[in-house]
Amino acid sequence: MVLQRDGHRGQTLLSAGLRFGGDDVSYLRSESGASALAFVGGLELTEATRVADVAAARARFGDRAPVLVETALLRRRALQKLGELGDVGNWLFTDEALQQATAAPVALHRAGRLARAGAAVHDATCSIGTELAALSVVGIRAVGSDIDPVRLAMARHNLGAAAGLCRADALRPVTRDAVVVADPGRRHGGRRRLRVDDYQPGLGPLIDTYRDREFAVKCSPGIDFEQVRRLGFGGEIEVTSYRGSVREACLWSGGLSGPGVRRRASVLDRGEQITDSDPDECPVRPAGRWIVDPDGAVIRAGLVRHYAARHALWQLDPDIAYLSGDRLPPGVRGFEVLERVAFDERKLRRALAALDCGALEILVRGVRVDPDALRGRLRPRGQRPLSVVITRIGSGAAGHPTAFVCRASR
Ligand SMILES: C[S@@+](CC[C@H](N)C(=O)[O-])C[C@H]1O[C@@H](n2cnc3c(N)ncnc32)[C@H](O)[C@@H]1O
Repeated sequence: MVLQRDGHRGQTLLSAGLRFGGDDVSYLRSESGASALAFVGGLELTEATRVADVAAARARFGDRAPVLVETALLRRRALQKLGELGDVGNWLFTDEALQQATAAPVALHRAGRLARAGAAVHDATCSIGTELAALSVVGIRAVGSDIDPVRLAMARHNLGAAAGLCRADALRPVTRDAVVVADPGRRHGGRRRLRVDDYQPGLGPLIDTYRDREFAVKCSPGIDFEQVRRLGFGGEIEVTSYRGSVREACLWSGGLSGPGVRRRASVLDRGEQITDSDPDECPVRPAGRWIVDPDGAVIRAGLVRHYAARHALWQLDPDIAYLSGDRLPPGVRGFEVLERVAFDERKLRRALAALDCGALEILVRGVRVDPDALRGRLRPRGQRPLSVVITRIGSGAAGHPTAFVCRASR
């Protein structure tokens, strides 16, 4: 919850997201704004103290209180998401800009790839400057532009006077040779835009504009790969995960792709990368000691077999993404199979009771089961935390839903 100004001076509403104007940014960047921010940043601003804190800010800074409180709250949130980029505790944001900002480890990963390409970079949708800050961390010369003057003014503050920034439409290039980085807006007025035509700027026009340049364009992780290919994109699609969740799919033009690589999964938590140029021979066999649920980036990039081949795993079924093996890949959380039963609630309940099951984690793939509803019906009462992996083995009439009762490795 954040503060929002309404039309009545002196009145404050609690809601999500405050609109900042150019005047607000000028104030926040001024000496008096900075000292007001220092004061408000020192307030606790917790749910318990919020009313008193806002009253204190209002008493001192009048109508400026909402932008000050909002900025103080956004700075705290930014430390988690962008901390690795430097002193973001002094940056300026809007709520939406912070939500849209690439998390620092992901931005640094992209910057690292660009550094290896060795070219100058133009971030054509630079917003408040996150990716430019990451590029600066890895020592790349970069300039930025954005269509939104408020975000640009914030970027100027965040990156310092030396940063090369200008207001420009990404569809009207203002640089000639630099590699272009773009991260089209996929959220507007608080709503997510899933269709690539609704990206701002649109993905098709963006690819057309920079067809003769090298580029990296950040897209939604759920983007339809076929649709991207239909737009004439022939380079690499890199799906990146961080902290167990898939963050983005990035389109890398041909000159920035790995040789022969069209799909890549980058699992930042483990520093692991798999591509479609890696071997993908992987047998289909019954479960061994462990079941492995591959990282979402590997699944989304369609590289489950490549991942299995690398780690000497095999598939339980050719169409299902669960893998099995006698050893876990390093750093991976896996499920040691204790018992296998045909998936039937009564049989499963008995198996769980016999194993003294308490807390129960349920993973499902290829079978219509709502894990939460099933957990509620099974209601295990024992002491031992266990996991159940429910999946379909075999297809058509030969297919049978199967439950593996497991112990998670951690
Ligand atoms: C998702 S945000 C970029 C976030 C940024 N990469 C970061 O990590 O902070 C998208 C940005 O694109 C900008 N934008 C939208 N349409 C544009 C256009 N036609 N030309 C330039 N910028 C545009 C928006 O103002 C917004 O700042």
